[in-house]
Amino acid sequence: MPRIEIAPSVLPADFSRLGEEVAALQAAGVDRIQWDVMDGQFVPNLTFGPDVIASARPHATVPFEAHLMVLTPDQMAAEYVQAGCQRLIVHAEACTHLHRTLANIASLGATAGVALNPATPASAVAHVLDLVDLVLVMTVNPGFGGQKYIATMEAKITEVRAMLDAAGRTDVDVEVDGGIGPDTIAGAVKAGANVLVAGSALYREKKGLAHAVADLRARAEAH
Ligand code: DX5
Repeated sequence: MPRIEIAPSVLPADFSRLGEEVAALQAAGVDRIQWDVMDGQFVPNLTFGPDVIASARPHATVPFEAHLMVLTPDQMAAEYVQAGCQRLIVHAEACTHLHRTLANIASLGATAGVALNPATPASAVAHVLDLVDLVLVMTVNPGFGGQKYIATMEAKITEVRAMLDAAGRTDVDVEVDGGIGPDTIAGAVKAGANVLVAGSALYREKKGLAHAVADLRARAEAH
């Protein structure tokens, strides 16, 4: 299994100071930064355009990944790569031609991930395992931070990890996103996740971001 990575969601950050916020996340020891891109169509919320991400790019050196919770990822992919995202994660539910979409992301020079909403089966990625660098198992219904972790997704995390291992893709990340915190991270890692996206659990920690990141990492690596 690939190494444990803590990937904060910028969703709870202060949007009036995004440059400082990403610098603070990097200083806190995160491995990469996830931008929850929402178009108000695929999910009932609207967030970051590529120019917003581009404005934050110079303030951190850690990789950026765009979690494209959008209906039209093919139309947006190139702009988010140009904005400074090294990885693009598309939703299987939004891609009529997922195989082509993933190949297109690779042709842009980025690595590619597929996200699965809670009701979407792991089998949705069965025929693109050769094209993915990451599979994201959503542990909430996408659109907002601060939601409750859906523990029944742990069976899907295990199934996805097993599919990747059976296909010889043992280097591919299995990421989880939604409700990840001190009380839920162990279950997700035990199930097979190695990249943990957290938003509210980091920002609500009274001892600060660095403590929150170190605590989540320690809990994850203990399994
Ligand atoms: C859902 C979002 C959230 C966010 C993290 O669309 O993707 O999952 O990143 O949320 P919390 O606050 O649950 O860590």
